[in-house]
Amino acid sequence: MIKIGLLGYGNIAEGLEEILSKNASRIKKRCGHAVEIKSALVRDLSKVRKGIPPHIQLTTHPADILDDPEISIVVEVMGGEHPALELLSDAIKAKKHVVTANKLLIAVHKEYLFDLAKTHAVKIGFEASVGGGIPLIKTLKVGLSPNEIEAIYGIVNGTTNFILSQIETEKKEFHTALKHAQKLGFAEADPHMDVSGLDAAYKLIILANVGFKVNIQLSDMSYEGITSISKDDIDCSNQLGYTIKLLAIGRKRSDGQYIFKVHPTLIPKTHPLAHIQNELNAIYIQSKGLGETLLSGKGAGPLPTGSAIASDIIDIILDGPHTGLRQVEAPAKPVTPLSIDLTHSQFFIRLTVTDTLGVLETVSRVLGKHHISIAKLIQQPVKKNTAQLLIITHPIIESELKAGIEEVKKESVILAINSLIRVGLDEN
Ligand SMILES: NC(=O)c1ccc[n+]([C@@H]2O[C@H](COP(=O)([O-])OP(=O)(O)OC[C@H]3O[C@@H](n4cnc5c(N)ncnc54)[C@H](OP(=O)(O)O)[C@@H]3O)[C@@H](O)[C@H]2O)c1
Repeated sequence: MIKIGLLGYGNIAEGLEEILSKNASRIKKRCGHAVEIKSALVRDLSKVRKGIPPHIQLTTHPADILDDPEISIVVEVMGGEHPALELLSDAIKAKKHVVTANKLLIAVHKEYLFDLAKTHAVKIGFEASVGGGIPLIKTLKVGLSPNEIEAIYGIVNGTTNFILSQIETEKKEFHTALKHAQKLGFAEADPHMDVSGLDAAYKLIILANVGFKVNIQLSDMSYEGITSISKDDIDCSNQLGYTIKLLAIGRKRSDGQYIFKVHPTLIPKTHPLAHIQNELNAIYIQSKGLGETLLSGKGAGPLPTGSAIASDIIDIILDGPHTGLRQVEAPAKPVTPLSIDLTHSQFFIRLTVTDTLGVLETVSRVLGKHHISIAKLIQQPVKKNTAQLLIITHPIIESELKAGIEEVKKESVILAINSLIRVGLDEN
């Protein structure tokens, strides 16, 4: 019997307990041991908790878990940075194998935690920290390991994907779609981390490490969220044959430079990522040799996340008492990603102009001065004397695009630049 100690007993812990108990005989057959949660650290013992099995002891004393010789694996499901980091470190120092669902801990403290784990000869599982139940960490670490990864495009935040899908299919505005997501439990009461792109940026740091074997810092990356995406943006991108997704993008260019960034992106409706709807997550990987791989599934929620944690527990047990080569992290080199201003993208520009003769000529002349050429243009009447222009540019270096837009804004025929969104996956 392998006994598990939990740090936290909230939504994800409940999901893990359900997965372990409902699949007890399957798990025992797979790894040769029964697996059971023995105890869990919580903040408040008096809190009413439904359906907690009698064999699980709750405690407010970390030592009840960390000093228990019967517990060989500690699972951190409390969230946040502190005291989760200190408790996870103490578990490692107590020679317990650890599993965490905490993207922030892994994104910010991975090097420290893995060095500590190496010193104390224990393993760390973090499958649940990105993509919920989708086994993407193991796929990148093991399944795709013979191949050089060239690019990763991830829809790694279920909240923003749900909101964008609702804007598109239910014709809701951003704030109404956010409220709906909160009502259904797909968005937190404080949605900042999700809608600002920060959650996706932390996950991209982990994917960079596992996929490209590089260490990047949040401060070196550009990330944008979806708060400025409107129903009009999605309607107009639909008219042009695209949909909008929040993508976490990692790419190694042929000149060896790395690009890591998070931003809303217009994706052709024919691309597999365009079909990832609502709370689902997906990552689309381009690798030498294998080509394109798409992994998709439930990116959050107690059961999918519990499943990923349980798979790490099984993995640790399968490897036996000693740390094998599977657990040793390949050395990751620190890199500074290319500044987003120096990357190339196609852009979608939506602008309101006066409905007068010569407007198109003015716009294309000013953009042309900055080497911005137009791949597609649609003019739509809006109301009396105004029109809306929808432009898709050819790929252009971002600094030039921004300079061109600043100059276009000064023209009297331009009434508003409504949106500026990057397009496509290939020219990043
Ligand atoms: N929700 C998802 O879909 C999802 C998906 C992937 C990863 N995750 C990650 O999974 C982790 C857990 O999420 P969750 O939704 O299960 O959180 P949750 O429901 O808020 O549960 C947190 C648990 O940790 C305990 N806790 C918090 N701070 C503590 C402290 N200082 N000392 C002792 N106990 C403490 C709480 O105790 P009380 O019960 O006494 O308050 C609670 O039992 C987070 O890192 C989250 O990012 C979540």
